[in-house]
Amino acid sequence: MQPTEFNGLTLALSKGRIFKETLPLLKAAGIELLEDPDKSRKLIFATTNDKVRVLILRASDVPTYVEHGAADFGVAGKDVLLEYGAKHVYELLDLQIAKCKLMTAGIKVANLPERRLRVATKYVNVARAYFASQGKQVDIIKLYGSMELAPLVGLGDLIVDVVDTGNTLRANGLEPLEHICDVSSRLIVNQVSYKRKFALLEPILQSFEASVG
Ligand code: ATP
Ligand code: PRP
Repeated sequence: MQPTEFNGLTLALSKGRIFKETLPLLKAAGIELLEDPDKSRKLIFATTNDKVRVLILRASDVPTYVEHGAADFGVAGKDVLLEYGAKHVYELLDLQIAKCKLMTAGIKVANLPERRLRVATKYVNVARAYFASQGKQVDIIKLYGSMELAPLVGLGDLIVDVVDTGNTLRANGLEPLEHICDVSSRLIVNQVSYKRKFALLEPILQSFEASVG
């Protein structure tokens, strides 16, 4: 089947923790993938519901696919939604999965310099808005991952990253400093799909809602 011919629902997920933690919610809604994405190079997966297919994307690309209607709905972390934004989507449900916190962190016991601080992060917009809300002007250094490394080699004074157990920070001699916001994953829906495909979406949304409680 050509992807363009599909007129059911397309769900955007990311590999890893969001995929794993969304599986039970999908199962409760009667949706199971016919193949394991961890054992396949495919990016589009059919499911036991022939009206639902799943796209496997980078976490930060999920809002983009949903916003443009390439996916009808998706699951994305609040961190990703805050950073990348998504204009034409409804954020319908807090799925209470992939819970963590957005925080600032720095080298343990390091005194922060008096000069304007340099902040290394992939959350450029979140970081800029957070420090502005504190009345602080900072220089942002854009990274794509492994933020914990940056201050250890002099690339920035602070980082902004997600923290769960704090193990990654500790393992690298960093400490959590300021709490920016709590993070969990949200079910997002394209606004046009919500209207046009409501009959297909409704039972799935209701099942997710019931699972989340
Ligand atoms: P990308 O591939 O776009 O760089 P990523 O590597 O951050 O994304 P994941 O690590 O799978 O993707 O994280 C997906 C989401 O899970 C994040 O956006 C965040 O909301 C949440 N998350 C990230 N790290 C943790 C963690 N250690 N514990 C709990 N939730 C987390
Ligand atoms: C995420 C995030 C942090 C870490 C925080 O990394 O990027 O580094 O979790 O979790 P902790 O406080 O429990 O240590 P992940 O494990 O997803 O690896 P990644 O760098 O591939 O995203």
